[in-house]
Amino acid sequence: MKKYILLFIISISLFFKGFAEEGMWLPQLLQSLNEKDMKKLGMKINASDIYNISRSSLKDAIVSFGGFCTAEVVSDKGLLLTNHHCGFEAIQSHSSVQNNYIRDGFWAYNMGQELQNPGLFATFIISINDVTKAVLNGVGDNITERERKSLIDKNIAALKAGTKKESYQDILIRPFFEANKYYMFITETYNDVRMVGAPPSSIGNFGKDTDNWMWPRHTGDFSMFRIYADKNNRPAAYSPDNVPYKPKRSLNISIDGIKEGDFTMVFGFPGRTNEYLHSSAIEQVVKLSDPAKVGIRTKALQVIDGFMRKDEQIGIQYAKKFASISNAWKKWQGEILGLTKSNAVEKRKQLEANFEKIVMSKPELNVAYMGLLKDLEKAYHDIEPYAYARDYYSEIYPKIELLLFANQLKSVVNAYEENGETGYAAAKEKALQNIEDQYKDYNAAVDEKLFTVLMEMYVKDQKDEYTSPYFKELLQQNSGDYAKTAATVYAQSKIYEIKSLQALLAGSAKDVTDAIKNDIGYKIAMDMQYTFGTKVAGHLNEIQSHINQLQRLYMQAQMDVFTEKAFYPDANSTLRVTYGQVKPAYPRDGVKYDIQTYMDGIMEKYKPGDYEFDLPKKLIDLYNKKDFGRWGVKGKQPVCFIASNHTTGGNSGSPALDAYGNLIGLNFDRAWEGTMSDINYDPAICRNIMVDIRYVMFIIDKFAGAKNLIDEMKFVSRVKK
Ligand code: ARG
Ligand code: ASP
Repeated sequence: MKKYILLFIISISLFFKGFAEEGMWLPQLLQSLNEKDMKKLGMKINASDIYNISRSSLKDAIVSFGGFCTAEVVSDKGLLLTNHHCGFEAIQSHSSVQNNYIRDGFWAYNMGQELQNPGLFATFIISINDVTKAVLNGVGDNITERERKSLIDKNIAALKAGTKKESYQDILIRPFFEANKYYMFITETYNDVRMVGAPPSSIGNFGKDTDNWMWPRHTGDFSMFRIYADKNNRPAAYSPDNVPYKPKRSLNISIDGIKEGDFTMVFGFPGRTNEYLHSSAIEQVVKLSDPAKVGIRTKALQVIDGFMRKDEQIGIQYAKKFASISNAWKKWQGEILGLTKSNAVEKRKQLEANFEKIVMSKPELNVAYMGLLKDLEKAYHDIEPYAYARDYYSEIYPKIELLLFANQLKSVVNAYEENGETGYAAAKEKALQNIEDQYKDYNAAVDEKLFTVLMEMYVKDQKDEYTSPYFKELLQQNSGDYAKTAATVYAQSKIYEIKSLQALLAGSAKDVTDAIKNDIGYKIAMDMQYTFGTKVAGHLNEIQSHINQLQRLYMQAQMDVFTEKAFYPDANSTLRVTYGQVKPAYPRDGVKYDIQTYMDGIMEKYKPGDYEFDLPKKLIDLYNKKDFGRWGVKGKQPVCFIASNHTTGGNSGSPALDAYGNLIGLNFDRAWEGTMSDINYDPAICRNIMVDIRYVMFIIDKFAGAKNLIDEMKFVSRVKK
């Protein structure tokens, strides 16, 4: 027996050895959990310099940028740095044929030129506190999931009501560790965030889709904004009277550069990860879910690409849609590859075997967790057909815009059927406005072709009972020909074209509602929704709720069983610190990923006139003259670098900090082979990609000539020059 225990302890410690770089850690727990480890990896500051509520710390320079990215304060006048792809919507919204900031870039050479962005916000985290006890108060083992939820909702409401905060602050309470823990965040959100600068896309998105998720990388993925506050430095809606925000803390910028082995940390708002799944769930991702989604997107991208290449207008209209479909499409392929190559499923099975052994060896664990893994496996098995149907539905439905228009009109029908004339006019107004906005980037020929191709997958690739009977009837009337069916639908539907939609929406509320309900496109959309709702969603939600319950127990179980391991919670769009080192990688046989790229590589990739690899003349001139100013080293201009920081979507724009907490780069991507880090981080393969801060400064200074911005920032160096 003794030998037995000794054996598995060894095997576990082997298993966890070398995982120091894995994890997205809670800033308030760094001191107790990570500080020693961070210092071992090279950090020279203390955890209390990163997170502190009694004095200013690095956390006071980090904001959630619009809820989808991260940005950081880099001057005492509220100047923000984030990625170009994070600021892209703002850049696009200010762009026109006369002022094409996407193509030419934008620079405010004084504060008066900065542009307001309605809807864009920056959120600071003031404090983070463990409120698990209060939230789970009275939540026992023997209550249903529904009772649990309502009790927790009540507790959270009471907790919020009883918490002191300033009028301009908000309270956020979020579940962690699969809802075994709850933390409360006091936040301050600034709603006047103005655009300050952006390079041309040929720099900020150099390499576009071809280089996306790839190393070596040469993208200057940054843009600049500024937070404005009222006269008391508090959050306020946009007003010309607002003044630049005075931060508690802004980041200093190190221009010393990086070398292999340097400590780095990335501080930001990672969105979503699934690091504690059962092996059967990972298997489902690799074998079913990812391949299904990739397959659907491959077809959709082929269709859109075909049109974009032939028609310049469509090229502009569909650029953003294409980029966003292709972003996850490419990521999932990398994920399949990485999970397969790293034997993620096999490794997770080993972990489960260890788990089982330890549970068996201790009576108290045995009582609590016996059979848990089997139950999980069964639940994942049960959900499989429904999860597959969900993937098909959620991938196909939103890519056919006709169905999205129908969904907008559903709110008009609902308004009338639920409340009669009250609210009907407003609902109609709103739906029409939304649809008109969508029409700007819409082409019916593209949509019809997408309909043809995707509806064929919808019908052929899934169980018959999960697909719309109404659509299949139409298909049959058109002798089973998808193109013919699509032609019929787009000939008859009145909802994808402004004139016919306006005509459809004219008349009495009753007539309009009837007309909408009789539209062929609307009928298909509603029948797809109904079929999914009745045949899939019910089962799916029920099993998913059971899985959530089991995963919650399994999370607690892993903590009880692997007591020597420090656990970090899955990403959930809250503030986290991840740390690692600047490190090369060996992703494939014979291939080494060097830590740094230079402008020489930009010139190697340069393709005049190309949509992805063209360059501004001025950049080429600067390169040829080696006019890098103080941002280059030995006649070379650094551009991007990689490290072993564990990041995910939402970490874009996050600061990469050195051992002293100085800014050395902006995180913006990961290397393709390691995108599996959302499910299975492997320090040998997983690398995050950052744009070197010296390239950012080179572009602002030498390319844009925005000395006003350079003068605002504070630069530090430890190297005697
Ligand atoms: N792959 C990165 C991320 O997931 C960058 C995406 C933006 N760049 C692009 N070429 N689409 O967000
Ligand atoms: N590009 C991602 C983002 O926008 C970052 C990543 O997934 O690595 O947040």
